[in-house]
Amino acid sequence: MFDLSEIQAALANTIYSGKLHFSAVTGSTNSDAMAAARSDAPHGSVYFADEQTAGRGRGDHAWHSAAGQGLYVSVLLRPQLPAARLPLLPLVAGLAAANAVREASGLTVDLRWPNDLLLGPRKTGGILAEAQTEAGSISFAVVGIGINVHQGSFDPGLATPATSLDVERGRAISRQALLVALLESLQRETDGLHDLAACRAIPSRVEQASTWIRGRHVEVHGPQACAGITEGLDDHGFLRVRTADGIVQVQTGGIRSAP
Ligand code: BTN
Repeated sequence: MFDLSEIQAALANTIYSGKLHFSAVTGSTNSDAMAAARSDAPHGSVYFADEQTAGRGRGDHAWHSAAGQGLYVSVLLRPQLPAARLPLLPLVAGLAAANAVREASGLTVDLRWPNDLLLGPRKTGGILAEAQTEAGSISFAVVGIGINVHQGSFDPGLATPATSLDVERGRAISRQALLVALLESLQRETDGLHDLAACRAIPSRVEQASTWIRGRHVEVHGPQACAGITEGLDDHGFLRVRTADGIVQVQTGGIRSAP
């Protein structure tokens, strides 16, 4: 279980101080954060739960969120940034999550563009970023992160097989330590979005944390479905894929290894 007063104390000097909202059970922490955003909740509000009954993944997939097993957390941000920087947000959230997993467990995450957290070939987490923009600026963004921590069995029908931190590490990893490390890292990373030089460094930082960004034979799924070899990220954070018809700049969707 989470010790809320300990978490509050650990985050006392962060943007999240006094803005932590814990639910034993909720539908979706992303839905909670989106509703709160529309009711003027402040920058840095955090919604996390022990269990989600309607956890949401990307592309209308469900995110299985059994009680006491995973980390289910969503952060409301109101960054004063142009909407053009939005595609960088899930990428820095991935960097923050990889850093937090390393701090809490010693495991090294492989980031699969745009927002899957893999341990070897298996998926241990994902990011669902949702945002509202107005007149070319970000009004608010919600970054939802789900990480499998204690799960020991997984749906065999998943497109990418799943795993958890405990399975990979062979011991119990603390969800609380992971949460605190994640929120601290996320603050550092999202602060960096205000700095042009830091933004320019994001594609190469993601490339260093990923085996997927360059030289991988992939199938792209989603509206820009194609197949080819990855050739890095551009400044927007879009994935360049060399196909038989030339370079495709993939803006949305996901990738899998080509058979
Ligand atoms: C994906 O891999 O498709 C993204 C999964 C995101 C799941 C997290 S769990 C916390 C937050 N609340 C949700 O309903 N979804 C995100």
